[in-house]
Amino acid sequence: MPQYILALDQGTTSSRAILFDQQGRIVAQAQKEFTQLFPRPGWVEHDPLEIWATQAGVAAEATVKAGQNGRSIAAIGITNQRETTIVWERRTGRPVYNAIVWQDRRTAAYCDELRAAGHEALIRRKTGLLLDAYFSATKLRWILDNVPGARRQAEAGELAFGTVDSWLVWNFTQGERHITDVSNAARTLLFDIHRRQWDEELLALFDIPASVLPEVRASSEVYGATKTTVFASKIPLAGMAGDQQAALFGQQCTTPGLVKNTYGTGCFMLMNTGPEARPSQHQLLTTVAWQLGNQPVQYALEGSIFMAGAVVQWLRDQLGIIRSAAEVEQLARQVPDSGGVCFVPAFAGLGAPHWDQHARGTVLGLTRASTAAHLARAAVEAIAYQTLDVLRAMEADAGLPIRELRVDGGAAANDLLMQLQADVLGARVVRPRLLETTALGAAYLAGLAVGYWGGLDELQQLNAADTTFEPQAERAGIAAGIAEWQRAVRAVRAWAAD
Ligand code: G3P
Repeated sequence: MPQYILALDQGTTSSRAILFDQQGRIVAQAQKEFTQLFPRPGWVEHDPLEIWATQAGVAAEATVKAGQNGRSIAAIGITNQRETTIVWERRTGRPVYNAIVWQDRRTAAYCDELRAAGHEALIRRKTGLLLDAYFSATKLRWILDNVPGARRQAEAGELAFGTVDSWLVWNFTQGERHITDVSNAARTLLFDIHRRQWDEELLALFDIPASVLPEVRASSEVYGATKTTVFASKIPLAGMAGDQQAALFGQQCTTPGLVKNTYGTGCFMLMNTGPEARPSQHQLLTTVAWQLGNQPVQYALEGSIFMAGAVVQWLRDQLGIIRSAAEVEQLARQVPDSGGVCFVPAFAGLGAPHWDQHARGTVLGLTRASTAAHLARAAVEAIAYQTLDVLRAMEADAGLPIRELRVDGGAAANDLLMQLQADVLGARVVRPRLLETTALGAAYLAGLAVGYWGGLDELQQLNAADTTFEPQAERAGIAAGIAEWQRAVRAVRAWAAD
């Protein structure tokens, strides 16, 4: 008798697998980091075979840890780093190039050209996105144009394109299914989010042959069953969503107006807008939240910040001033403030609401008295300030104040960051007991499709808030800090434009 749902969370820096029970509790989990490739400045790649191997490996490991062999798993839900682009040969399953990761900026100049030629309005209207190297289409085009023979093979129908969800399903079904879900399709720049179809005009604009595209499915439905030897039996694959949309679902932001912010590699704030695709006047993205079976598609407004937890990783791996990510809190607490140091972590440009592809990371305000603790504090503050910029844009688009922010992701465990966040926003920050809401969302989507859970009402019972952070600091000090941050962002953008 199946007792569990297996959620696979294929993120930017690690592959994870979590087994949930019917109460939404974690039964077993496994995680493996994989190689980040930086072949040139601004380029970020992953090996698709390593993505698959680590993901299959942790799926097996978590299952074994729970003392199971797969027969007890009712369904698998997949959630993934979005936009990351993979192209492989249909016949052999062999990738023709590394995965080009969402953070990769190699196509920034091409995006500038398209913008100069006046194409952004059309793209914005159809896809809800902006013309930025972040999304898949220009990465896909780069592969077709730069890998010898790829375009010819694509035109002959020999190649498949997919985001990471498609790639995993292809491998789990040994090539039987070439599919994606609406939330992932919505991140490609090739998908009309209103008609919910691949768009011929956009395909022509980016010069992409339609033959490479996966079939677009709902986020919660039975797509097929696993065929690999990873498990002792076939398991239904029944849920798929981009990781930020899955987190929105896992946080149970299922009614319009509810907002979550995930502090992962980047920071992603999403607001549920229900069945309405609401255009943004403030440089946010309009995107698909999910589709449950044949119910109407739900939409969201999104603010994407490219660097959040990655800033902490940078302090650890590149600067070596902390040994583990968790140590940043301790270091930052050694000082009461950043001592005038302002850190704009635009390592991969700036995302929402600035969208500056050419900005780069900058530390301002250093003096002889500046210490590693000041830099750590400035890094933590930068995460909170970037979130503030997005929240203000979202409030302006929604036309109402946001009084509560639901948070999750690794860095949400940092109490200093969460308190700073509440102070900077002047809003309540609510952290659930279970921070794995991305995986939980994928589990919910899969579980609903196979009847493991009865419906949204049942899921609502499972969510328990853990800690609430109320704004505490006096507003004058906060306002001065915000003004300094804005000045620093202006300086970075002026440098990038010069
Ligand atoms: O859009 C990129 C996003 O999906 C990446 O999420 O959690 O891997 O940083 P994460």
